[in-house]
Amino acid sequence: MFNNLMTRGRLLKKIALEVLGDKGKSLWSRIDIVGDIAIIKKPISTSLAYDDFKLLGEALLSRLGSIRSIWLAVTPVTGPYKVREYIHLAGEPRSTTIYREHNCSFKVDIGKVFITPRLGFEHLRVAKLVESSEVVVNMFAGIGIFSIVIAKIAKPKAVHSIDINVDAYNLMVENIKINRVEGIVIPYLGDAAKIIEERLVGVADRVLMPLPDLALEYIPYALMSLRESRGVIHVYLHVRSDKEKRFYNKAIMSVRDRVESEGWSLVDAHSRVVRGVGPGLLQVVVDAKVERIR
Ligand SMILES: C[S@@+](CC[C@H](N)C(=O)[O-])C[C@H]1O[C@@H](n2cnc3c(N)ncnc32)[C@H](O)[C@@H]1O
Repeated sequence: MFNNLMTRGRLLKKIALEVLGDKGKSLWSRIDIVGDIAIIKKPISTSLAYDDFKLLGEALLSRLGSIRSIWLAVTPVTGPYKVREYIHLAGEPRSTTIYREHNCSFKVDIGKVFITPRLGFEHLRVAKLVESSEVVVNMFAGIGIFSIVIAKIAKPKAVHSIDINVDAYNLMVENIKINRVEGIVIPYLGDAAKIIEERLVGVADRVLMPLPDLALEYIPYALMSLRESRGVIHVYLHVRSDKEKRFYNKAIMSVRDRVESEGWSLVDAHSRVVRGVGPGLLQVVVDAKVERIR
């Protein structure tokens, strides 16, 4: 039913408008489907009351055949683990589900770990860049989606996958088994800086840094984990959008400054918008080829 994102978007819009009239106008674009759970992300300022959201939740439950549980996300992602707070709206009061992406299955608990279905394209894009001869380090791996999609599609030598949230780590361990990528995706529990310093110096051809809060600060550790003094880093950042699109260059410059201050150079770099994350705020990724110069 949800294979076609356009169809799903239209259906969500229709239901939101029918239930809430004009008040539901922009709300439909704030609904995420994760497995058999629907999440309505409450706008920071809204005239809608809990009862409005409950009505919408009940309508979604009765109209979307594959959905069993509806939750209202009442905060943005917060804290070091990037988790939202939720109120249950309708259906089973269950926060665990199986999320599917690119022929992989992921066990997830929306109340305990970071999850968004809006990174699916990015996971595939990066997986297609990886070669089978590579070793990858994923510094902020969550429940392992990026790492497992890479393992399945690119079949690299290894994807060392670190997360500091014990719930994300435990789910990653399960997801590695579910997707049969044991021996390729190697899970680590802890702070990425510490794990790299202690266990992953000079091992990687490519490093993923999918956590905008820490990405620039942790560039020294990403460089430390590269082997043969060169490699590729994918740095995810939040930037303010501007009409002239100067943010593309600004993102590259901020990565260049950090890389150069560590005695490395940026041989080549591109940036692209990954998704919108708030009013006027974008997530961008800088794909940077780097080389040690001293
Ligand atoms: C945005 S999520 C990762 C998203 C994931 N890569 C995906 O595509 O779904 C960021 C993750 O970084 C983890 N994290 C936060 N601080 C960390 C640290 N210092 N070291 C390792 N992981 C960290 C959080 O627990 C969270 O799971």
